[in-house]
Amino acid sequence: MQLKNINIILGITGGIAAYKTPDLVRKLVAKGANVRVVMTDSAKEFVSPLALQAVSGNPVSDNLLDKDAEAAMGHIELARWADMLLVAPATANFMAKLTYGLADDLLSTLCLATPAPIYIAPAMNQQMWFADATQANLKILAQRKIQFLGPAQGEQACGDVGPGRMLEPQEIADLLVPESLEQLLAGKRITITAGPTREEIDPVRYLSNHSSGKMGYALATAAQELGATVTLISGPVNLQPPALIKTVSVINAQQMHDAVMQTTDTCDIFVGCAAVADYRVQQKTEQKIKKSDSELTLTFIKNPDILSDVAHLANAPFTLGFAAETQNLREYALDKLQRKKLNMIAANDVSDSTIGFNSEQNALNVFWSKGEKKLEVADKQLLARQLMQLVAQRYIEDTND
Ligand code: C5P
Repeated sequence: MQLKNINIILGITGGIAAYKTPDLVRKLVAKGANVRVVMTDSAKEFVSPLALQAVSGNPVSDNLLDKDAEAAMGHIELARWADMLLVAPATANFMAKLTYGLADDLLSTLCLATPAPIYIAPAMNQQMWFADATQANLKILAQRKIQFLGPAQGEQACGDVGPGRMLEPQEIADLLVPESLEQLLAGKRITITAGPTREEIDPVRYLSNHSSGKMGYALATAAQELGATVTLISGPVNLQPPALIKTVSVINAQQMHDAVMQTTDTCDIFVGCAAVADYRVQQKTEQKIKKSDSELTLTFIKNPDILSDVAHLANAPFTLGFAAETQNLREYALDKLQRKKLNMIAANDVSDSTIGFNSEQNALNVFWSKGEKKLEVADKQLLARQLMQLVAQRYIEDTND
C-alpha cells in the first residue's frame, strides 16, 4: 500500500475528465490514502460532490468563505493536513491561476497555503495545451518543482487527437510517491547508458541510429529522484546533461563498454538503455575514403555486448536491459532476459512510430523471472519514473531474498 496513511487533497477543476475523479478517489483510497476532495464551481458542473463525498468518506469542500466549513476544518488547517495536493483534472485556466499565484477560491488558496508537494494532472484540448501561454505557464510551474503527471496523448472528448488527455486514474495513483518512499534507492549507485553509439568509418563518415537518448536521460533523473548516485554514460545526443548527475560522454560502443566497466565494481544497478551499434567497421581508415567507379565493400565486426558482459560478471549488479522490437515482443524479450542473464527487461514496440526512438512518448512491457507489468503510453519522463520505481522495488526484493 504505497499511500498508506498519506493525506491527499484532491483538487478537481472544471474539465470533462472530472467525470473520472470518483474512480481516482477509489484508486487512492485502495492504496491506503486519506482523501479530502476540494472542487471548483465549474468542476461541480461535471461531477457531483455527493458522489465524491461517498467514495472519499469525507465532506467535500468548495467554498473559501463558508463559515461552517471553516469552523470544521479551516483552509489553513486543511493545507497543513495534506501530505500531497493533487489537482486532477487541471484545466489551462487553473494552471494560469497557479502561475500567477491567484487565491480567489478555495483550491487556488490551498495551493499557496500548503507546504505539501503539488502534483498536476492537466486535461485540456490539445490546441490549448500547445498554446504559448499554457506552455510558458508549464515552464514556470515546473521550475517551482510542481510535478506534472501527463497529459497523455490520444483522442479527446472534443474529437481532436493529441496531447491533453488526463492520465487514467490508476496511472495517476501509481505515480504519486510519498516523500517517505522517495528515497527508495538512497545510497545506491546506478550506471545508465543512453543514446546511440557512433561507429566511425573514416574521418568524416559514421554508422549510427535514431536513438535520441531521451529515455536514458529521463531514467537518470528518475533514479536520482529516488536517492541514487547516478553515472550516466551517453553516446552523442542533443540533450543537456542533467543537473548534478555525473555524465560521461562517449562516441562508440567500445568506449561505452570501457566507461561502463570502470563503474561495475561499485555499482548496484546497471541500466542498459543505449542503442548500441552491434557492429563496427573492421578497419577505420585514417583518410577519407575516395569515391571510385567500382562498388565499395566494408567489412563489419561485432561490437561487445555491454549489457550481457555486465550481467555475466561474477559480481554482477542488478541489470535492466531494453528490447526494441517490431514483432513478437514478449517472446524476443523473454529470450533476451534469459540469454543475457538479466534481472529485468523493458520491451517496446518500435514499429509504432508514435512512440519509441525519437518521440516524446513511449510504452513498455517489463518482464522479470517471476512477473511482468505493462506501462501504458506516457511521456518518457513519467514512464521513466514508473520504471525506476519498479526497478527499485524488484531490486529491494531480490536483495532481501
Ligand atoms: O540484443 P539487443 O541489441 O536487442 O539488446 C538490446 C539491449 O542490449 C539494450 O538494453 C542495449 O542497451 C543492450 N546492448 C548493449 N550492447 C550491445 C548491444 C545491445 O549493451 N552491443
